[in-house]
Amino acid sequence: MKRSTLLGLLALPLSAALIAAPWAHALIAARATPQLQVPHGWPAPHYNFAANPVTPAGFALGRRLFYDPILSRDGSVSCGNCHQQFAAFAHLDHRVSHGIGGVNGKRNTPGLFNLAWQPELMWDGSVHQLELQPVAPISNPLEMGGSLALAVDKLRGDASYPRLFAAAFGSPGVDSQRLLRALAQFTGTLVSADSHYDRAMQGREAFTPQEHAGLDLFREHCAACHREPLFSDFSYRNNGLDAAPRDAGRALVSGHPGDQGLFRVPSLRNVALTAPYMHDGRYDSLQQVLDHYTSGIQSSPTLDPLLANGITLNAGQRRALLAFLDSLTDDSFIHDRRFAQPHD
Ligand code: HEC
Ligand code: HEC
Repeated sequence: MKRSTLLGLLALPLSAALIAAPWAHALIAARATPQLQVPHGWPAPHYNFAANPVTPAGFALGRRLFYDPILSRDGSVSCGNCHQQFAAFAHLDHRVSHGIGGVNGKRNTPGLFNLAWQPELMWDGSVHQLELQPVAPISNPLEMGGSLALAVDKLRGDASYPRLFAAAFGSPGVDSQRLLRALAQFTGTLVSADSHYDRAMQGREAFTPQEHAGLDLFREHCAACHREPLFSDFSYRNNGLDAAPRDAGRALVSGHPGDQGLFRVPSLRNVALTAPYMHDGRYDSLQQVLDHYTSGIQSSPTLDPLLANGITLNAGQRRALLAFLDSLTDDSFIHDRRFAQPHD
């Protein structure tokens, strides 16, 4: 085969390569471990992979742990239960998370992608480091209901994990730091940067006139907070959901009364896949989200000044904005087999 053909194939998304040729398996093995590649035009990631280099065995271990209910107290709930790949790792149709014993959590499960770029995690920014994030769900009584120590004990007594940990970290030993690092090798490499929007920005595809009109409207009304290319400026804001917020949001972390009802500006990448919307999952559709911004803004002392007068959109502009939001869906990300539940 000509060298140019091979290079061309390597650039294809995994699913396309699979269809392209039966001998593609060797290529897939070589590409099975994602390395963090900074997409063109993106800032440097926040998470320091130099301190936790992604290796094939480390990534495979992190992926297996992500999908394994062994991390929960009674072996019933895995990370993947709430974070579903087909929904860009959000939880489809669940307003708030459902954890161990079917109990309801307090907040809507966010999608997981491009986490290495997030300076803080969670809706209120209560977690500062990707590596430490799993401590929250593992020990939350409404999520996995256990503890890090319990999870480590169970992994030590398991028939295969001690071997997998040794392979991933070069020496025997199952401990909480290794558990957290392996999970971060998986969650940190969930990069989503191949939507129609991305290809259009690179000149490889063209926006329809309607999508283009939507992009212009987006930049006029939304991008100050949902900033390109990550579609968040990672600030905390009150976008006017409630006059008196039931969830104090950022104020729970900072203790400042001025942070009442502020939540992190969420990324809008893959937003068509991650319904329901907002920190409490109150809206089922993007139509309802636009209704909120055009006619539902609730005034309060912490309402963001940018939204003080709401946003005016006519019917055609709404359709254009929705068409643009659809262009942020990354199909190759949700079908990437490297991120799917392993079957071994
Ligand atoms: C019971 C459902 C549930 C389970 C199980 C669960 N999560 Fe989550 N996850 C959530 C919810 C809900 C949030 C948002 C919490 C908040 O902001 O208060 C979240 C937030 C996150 C975030 C932060 C995302 C962001 O954009 O800030 C990461 C990363 C994450 N989860 C990874 C994991 C990992 C890894 C596991 C397994 C160890 C896991 N989750 C298990 C429901 C769940
Ligand atoms: C002043 C900053 C700001 C502006 C302007 C803004 N948003 Fe938001 N947006 C937010 C914040 C903050 C949230 C999260 C609020 C919450 O859950 O409490 C949010 C949430 C959303 C969500 C829900 C995402 C999810 O995963 O749940 C969508 C969709 C959305 N915004 C779209 C838009 C669109 C479209 C525009 C322009 C018409 C816009 N936003 C303008 C700050 C803003």
